[in-house]
Amino acid sequence: MAKERVIVGVDVGTTKICALIGEVDQDNRLNIVGVGMAPSQGLRRGMVVNIDEAAAAIREALDKTERISGYKIGTALVGIAGSHISSQNSRGIVAVSPNMHEISQPDIERAIEAARAQPLPHNREVLHVIPREYVVDGEAGIHDPLGMSGNRLEVETHIVTGAVTSIHNLIKCVEKTGIEIDDIVLEPLASSEAVLTGAERDLGVAMIDIGGGTTDLAIFINGSIWHTAVIGIGGNHLTNDIAVGLRTPFNVAEDMKKKYGSAVAERIDVNEMIKIPTFDNSTGEPISRRFLCEIIEARMREMLVLVHEEIRGAGYQGVLPAGVVLTGGSSQLSELVDLARDVLNMPARIGGPAQLTGLVDSINSPAYSTAVGLLSWGLKNGDYQNPRSPVPAGGGTGPSWGDVVGRFTSWLKHFWASA
Ligand SMILES: Nc1ncnc2c1ncn2[C@@H]1O[C@H](COP(=O)(O)OP(=O)(O)OP(=O)(O)O)[C@@H](O)[C@H]1O
Ligand SMILES: [Mg+2]
Repeated sequence: MAKERVIVGVDVGTTKICALIGEVDQDNRLNIVGVGMAPSQGLRRGMVVNIDEAAAAIREALDKTERISGYKIGTALVGIAGSHISSQNSRGIVAVSPNMHEISQPDIERAIEAARAQPLPHNREVLHVIPREYVVDGEAGIHDPLGMSGNRLEVETHIVTGAVTSIHNLIKCVEKTGIEIDDIVLEPLASSEAVLTGAERDLGVAMIDIGGGTTDLAIFINGSIWHTAVIGIGGNHLTNDIAVGLRTPFNVAEDMKKKYGSAVAERIDVNEMIKIPTFDNSTGEPISRRFLCEIIEARMREMLVLVHEEIRGAGYQGVLPAGVVLTGGSSQLSELVDLARDVLNMPARIGGPAQLTGLVDSINSPAYSTAVGLLSWGLKNGDYQNPRSPVPAGGGTGPSWGDVVGRFTSWLKHFWASA
């Protein structure tokens, strides 16, 4: 009997690590069979700043997932973010091999390679080269040119690059946990897999994942990715502002934000008072809830203005009829949709991981969009899959490793060779 395909995703977030295992059934649907979380350590603004601490937190999440699922994890898809990420669109053009004027897989690969051949500073590395569409003899809008007749093949690609040191640190700390990496996936691309509908991508949409340390952006038009960005500011900054403004510890400020926060302060009654424990007064001091929400609104407005500038600067204002889809833990802030509509001047909705089956209760929230999206990414890009892993604990051997050459493995070899 054919072995079930299994995919592992690890979201290394600024506030939490989430490791998921999904089994793929015969209809190519994911069933989540393992969920493991751990509070993050050693991360700042989406980047690893302490390898040992981050590795320990990742290991803790992996251990929990292994215990729940009964699988032993050997490899995983891992998310990457941080403000070192940048992206650009690039075109590659090649002549189709002259034998039959029929486009072959090597022709497609040569075109993608031509698009990728951009000069890069020595301290940056390519993370993704994603074909967006193909043009055959001037005919645009082709998604799969394989087998078509033509003389000239062009490909439009989206290229994502990151700082070598940040990528290197993430690889190091994941490998320290004893697992290998199937592929590194840009977090906004993963989150988009989990929350956007096909119709939204076709129309034109911006996915905004507001986490603890970063705000991630991905723009889709005509079904393809056009722009990605990571802004190094997130929900932790809201909590910091509250802690400073109300002179209260970070954890108290965090509770206040979740319990009483709103992104539209003027909707809160000016006379409503709430009690908060401060550093020097553990019994609680009454403060105006409106004041708390004014602090929150000011920072959230600033974050959304930065996102708006990124969208406008990249030239996509006015071409996103499906508006924005907000996700990430901070998208749970009350009234955020209304503030987003106001600042971005577009339709807005909150999105969480959709159409989940299996152990879904604990991950059915916008905070888990990236982790779920990593599994969806692995499902779509099947050649990342390494069937050696995970194997059922205490037995199965799985298919041999030798015939599986993951894209990441070759990328990694190139990376180490050039490091
Ligand atoms: N109900 C809520 N209202 C407001 N903020 C919330 C709420 N619930 C969670 N958050 C915030 O969500 C943030 C964590 O989000 P998330 O889990 O998506 O981050 P992360 O993935 O760990 O970090 P990042 O993606 O930035 O590296 C925290 O700042 C937390 O305060
Ligand atoms: Mg996140």
